[in-house]
Amino acid sequence: MKSWRYWLTVDTSFTLELIKISSKYFEKYTLNNNVVVPGRLVIPPLTIFSSNPDGTLSDGERKYLELRATGVGLYILGACAVSQEGIAFPCQPRAFSEKDIESNAERAKIIKSQGALAINQIHHGGALSKKEYSGLAPVAPSADIANEKLKKSGQLTEETKIRELSDEEIKKTIEDFAYATEISIKAGYDGIEIHGANNYLIQQFYSPFTNRRTDDWGGSVEKRMNFPLKIVDACCKVREKFNKPEFIIGYRLSPEEPFEPGITMTETKQLIKALVEKPIQYIHISLKKFFQTTRRGEGTGIERLKVIHELTKGKVALIGVGGLKTQKDFTDAINSGFTEFVAAGVASMMNRDLGILLKENKGDKLELELKAQLQELTSELGMDITTFFTMAAKQAVR
Ligand SMILES: Cc1cc2nc3c(=O)[nH]c(=O)nc-3n(C[C@H](O)[C@H](O)[C@H](O)COP(=O)(O)O)c2cc1C
Repeated sequence: MKSWRYWLTVDTSFTLELIKISSKYFEKYTLNNNVVVPGRLVIPPLTIFSSNPDGTLSDGERKYLELRATGVGLYILGACAVSQEGIAFPCQPRAFSEKDIESNAERAKIIKSQGALAINQIHHGGALSKKEYSGLAPVAPSADIANEKLKKSGQLTEETKIRELSDEEIKKTIEDFAYATEISIKAGYDGIEIHGANNYLIQQFYSPFTNRRTDDWGGSVEKRMNFPLKIVDACCKVREKFNKPEFIIGYRLSPEEPFEPGITMTETKQLIKALVEKPIQYIHISLKKFFQTTRRGEGTGIERLKVIHELTKGKVALIGVGGLKTQKDFTDAINSGFTEFVAAGVASMMNRDLGILLKENKGDKLELELKAQLQELTSELGMDITTFFTMAAKQAVR
């Protein structure tokens, strides 16, 4: 498991690179619902643990968002909880009550006023939700396997014990994602991203490791796909209800799990084949390294994004991400042709003007004085560096 510090590792011998950032970053892209995205640079969802404890917009969060969306095509906001029981982080934004519209409307407005499209990532933590933040027991497709994992790591207590979702609760959770879509439409976002990645609830349903159910929601690949696909259908239905064909719907997933019996590329391809038949606009692959190759299953040894692009191109846009830090990294990623969009997480946290630096070909400035910038970032968010490191480390491992 790589630490947060790993993500910040920089080559301090870095010298001015003569490579020019590909102008492709600043080409427009028309999504399959005819929405024009102003550029190919994406800010991926980044949880910054900085909303107020009730999920409303805080001053630190406002300041952070105000400075980061210039020169960006799609700005995807960090995981926003679809229900109380799905809350996984301290000070996580929410989209499950009319009360949540106001803060979300301001978040959307701040991003849009900088010229980017604002996308709300909607999320349920499942087994990774925390009672200390939600006040409720975490839930999962299968409780035994989830609790066994906690027991092995010495973390199983009455407080952390995970409860298995009933059929009725699963249907209610799908409705929660639909309602979060409704809140996001009412708040004025340009779209939503369904968080099906990074081991949270939706991935827990698709994974043969965490889903041991024998009803309609588990067992075969088709049945494990039921929950993710029903969520997509429910969110698309809300868009129809509001007659908003221009509202963007994206889906984020992690393509492979390292453990057995985990998700393999063969299974991911099956899910992607089903997703591209839905009226969604993009698929976003969560990766540590943009050029990471397939570990097992179909396409072993070939870049994961290349394998996936074969299935998405001409149908939905693909977003790739992972470890891009230098001007050369950014240029290689967009020139690879593996994806229509390239996302930059940590680089955008550390360089609040990333879009401008890329646009002005000032890639040599990307990695300078990271420590100073980190200090600035944490003071911007109103938290000390150690707290931020501890929380961010949990996010940075995929
Ligand atoms: C502090 C932090 C918070 C993150 N929060 C989220 C999140 O809310 N949702 C999500 O899907 N991924 C989240 N991620 C993963 C990023 O979106 C991204 O995939 C990852 O950082 C790799 O890209 P990078 O190397 O460009 O940072 C987070 C990562 C970090 C470091």
